[in-house]
Amino acid sequence: MNIGVLGTGQVGGALGGRWAAGGHQVIFGVRDPADPEVRAVLARAGRGARAGSCREAMAACDTILLAIPWDQTRAVLEQAESLDGKLLIDCINPLKPDLSGLALGYTTSAAEQIAAWFPTARVVKAFNTLSAATMENPRYGDLAAHVFICGDDESAKATVHQLAVELGFEPVECGALQLARQLEPLAMLYVHLAVFQGWGGECAFRMLKR
Ligand SMILES: NC(=O)c1ccc[n+]([C@@H]2O[C@H](COP(=O)([O-])OP(=O)(O)OC[C@H]3O[C@@H](n4cnc5c(N)ncnc54)[C@H](OP(=O)(O)O)[C@@H]3O)[C@@H](O)[C@H]2O)c1
Repeated sequence: MNIGVLGTGQVGGALGGRWAAGGHQVIFGVRDPADPEVRAVLARAGRGARAGSCREAMAACDTILLAIPWDQTRAVLEQAESLDGKLLIDCINPLKPDLSGLALGYTTSAAEQIAAWFPTARVVKAFNTLSAATMENPRYGDLAAHVFICGDDESAKATVHQLAVELGFEPVECGALQLARQLEPLAMLYVHLAVFQGWGGECAFRMLKR
């Protein structure tokens, strides 16, 4: 599959690099392909990855991971010639700059906002409750971290489910895109525990069942 990954930071580098290593063709959408940090991400990702502009990555790929800050999202997506039918994997958390809470939320969500801006795209919320460390390695002993997935398009969710399984995660189907109103605050709880309560990034949410 051709996967566009917008951003080569902690999230883009981890998920994009692992999809490339797993055999997908990954095109990172970046501001400066010559940036040494971009070159380093490409070197780690291997032969399945290359970098271009965000516009180029979005044109070449039907599946696009949004691994950029919330406040840049609309402007970056507006660079696309067309997002008709494109699967947008939204892992964005619209955090306040001081991490004290969500800049947007509770009666809507970043995922729903993106879907409203680009109604012909297929938006799936996923991966937002995971740390970058868990994106690199989803294993916790015998268990795998859960990826909570929600969206309004069943085939788009099935694709994200498969992409998560390929990386070693256990997906949890949550329901419609509106469930992002629960998943984005859940990420806020994660940030609180990891940053302010001393848990750090080597931990992950998982449902228990019996
Ligand atoms: N880090 C986590 O543990 C984590 C977990 C779950 C979800 N998230 C979410 O994932 C997203 C990315 O987080 P991150 O931690 O990977 O951030 P990061 O390490 O700061 O990386 C951000 C990336 O976005 C790029 N970017 C910023 N503005 C851009 C623009 N206008 N056009 C093109 N690229 C642009 C940056 O490129 P430049 O180098 O050019 O600035 C960089 O590659 C955020 O929305 C965050 O809420 C993060």
